[in-house]
Amino acid sequence: MARRKKVYEGKAKILYEGPEPGTLVQYFKDDATAFNAQKKDVVDGKGVLNNRLSEFFMTGLNAIGVPTHFIRRLNMREQLIRQVEIIPLEVIVRNVAAGSLSTRLGIEEGTALPRPIIEFCYKDDKLGDPLVSEEHILAFGWASQQDLDDVIALSLRVNDFLSGCMLAVGIKLVDFKIEIGRIWDNDYQRLIVADEISPDSCRLWDIETGKKLDKDVFRRDLGSLSDAYTEVARRLGVLPANSGPVTRPTLIN
Ligand code: TMP
Repeated sequence: MARRKKVYEGKAKILYEGPEPGTLVQYFKDDATAFNAQKKDVVDGKGVLNNRLSEFFMTGLNAIGVPTHFIRRLNMREQLIRQVEIIPLEVIVRNVAAGSLSTRLGIEEGTALPRPIIEFCYKDDKLGDPLVSEEHILAFGWASQQDLDDVIALSLRVNDFLSGCMLAVGIKLVDFKIEIGRIWDNDYQRLIVADEISPDSCRLWDIETGKKLDKDVFRRDLGSLSDAYTEVARRLGVLPANSGPVTRPTLIN
């Protein structure tokens, strides 16, 4: 494991050089952070769960023709991905008011939105990932108008797919964040879904009880984060219903 070159280390993941040009190995850590890393902890097994859950969602997206960076899972904590040039935006899609939208606009958490709302934040930890408009994105050249049209179309397809996956297991997809990357196939440039899709980057509420099954459990000190993520994984069939804690090798292969 020591042989690989680290390319980048973020708050929840590490990227290593991949076995072939144009690939990377994405390693999922157990570190949990919130509020731009002002709150930190280590949650045993979180990386294992997020590796599996991101695999599950990205594989499904690939299968319905929404391109993603995911190639294959390598082991409990690592997956092989395509190397992309990340567009420096966090793309947030919201179906129900919650979190910063509720705070910013005074809309009560849980209010259904009249249609999915897409927001963009500029990816810069030093600035705290500020909300930006399309005007900023175009003026500062972070993406072109064509890119933005593609980003919006991709995000809405991801929203429909994830909403359906969740609805099928009694969970409401309140909102989520994705990141989009650029790849080149010969001279042809395409945008694909990158980074991860996991309960770290979604809000997931039990449809019956409203119980939170996402990183808000950690942000708001609502209980065990690994229990919440394990529940999501079990409902989606990613973990067997009667398996033990995820730190033990009880995952389906
Ligand atoms: P927000 O309501 O705090 O703006 O979050 C919106 C969605 O984006 C929510 O599902 C959590 C996710 N998110 C991230 O994945 N990373 C972040 O750094 C933040 C602030 C939110």
